Amino acid sequence: MRKKLVVGNWKMNGNRARNDVLLSALLEEARSEAVEVAVCPPFPYLDQVGRVLSEAGIALGAQNVSSFEAGAYTGEVSPAMLVDLGCAWVIVGHSERRTLFGETDETVLAKVRAALEFGLKPILCVGETLAQREAGNAELVVGGQVDSVVSGLGADVAAQLTLAYEPIWAIGTGRVASPDQAQAMHRFIRARLESAQVASSEVRILYGGSVTADNASELFAQPDIDGALVGGASLAAAGFSGICRAAAVVAA
Ligand code: 13P
Repeated sequence: MRKKLVVGNWKMNGNRARNDVLLSALLEEARSEAVEVAVCPPFPYLDQVGRVLSEAGIALGAQNVSSFEAGAYTGEVSPAMLVDLGCAWVIVGHSERRTLFGETDETVLAKVRAALEFGLKPILCVGETLAQREAGNAELVVGGQVDSVVSGLGADVAAQLTLAYEPIWAIGTGRVASPDQAQAMHRFIRARLESAQVASSEVRILYGGSVTADNASELFAQPDIDGALVGGASLAAAGFSGICRAAAVVAA
């Protein structure tokens, strides 16, 4: 049985004062034995957020990681540094990094490898654009993104992945995928893993894209949706806690 996982991706938001307010509200509300919860703040706030969360049973994650270990890589943050700061998770290959910062399937694979090597749990993001979906190519695109990492890692290592299906047209748009649309793609991803010999029954596949406390329950009720990667709604304690509660209810 896969435990539901809810991850807050704060993206490039927050400051020390606002983080404190959000964190103290989260400590009151977001805890649940039945659900795993993680928060991914921007790099400069990992220490601040990690110190608070470590007492609360909420895990810490980063939004990106370097594929390099150490040395002359100006502006990069290594996997060892993330571990040093208490991170358990790292988001890799978010569509914003792929489209705005030129990350390719090769870069993403290198980052996933580096993360795993240092004991971080990568959340591999995949997803198609609206044009790709409308052209009937959603599975082709997502399948290719999954395959490139899985074939690079090999089936045994790939079984350690967590995936996040984030259709680009649903990110920050308020246009959430329907539970049926999301379930269909999650099923497809799991089948794709299986066909690459990856033992997928314990691999969690999160959904991301305009998840709110109002639409989370329906999504979480789908058999292949194992949680959520939450952007905008993770910036308000009530919204994020509501999503965590919805996951706990489904898990109960
Ligand atoms: P929103 O929840 O704001 O749509 O963002 C989703 C996302 O990109 C999480 O990584």
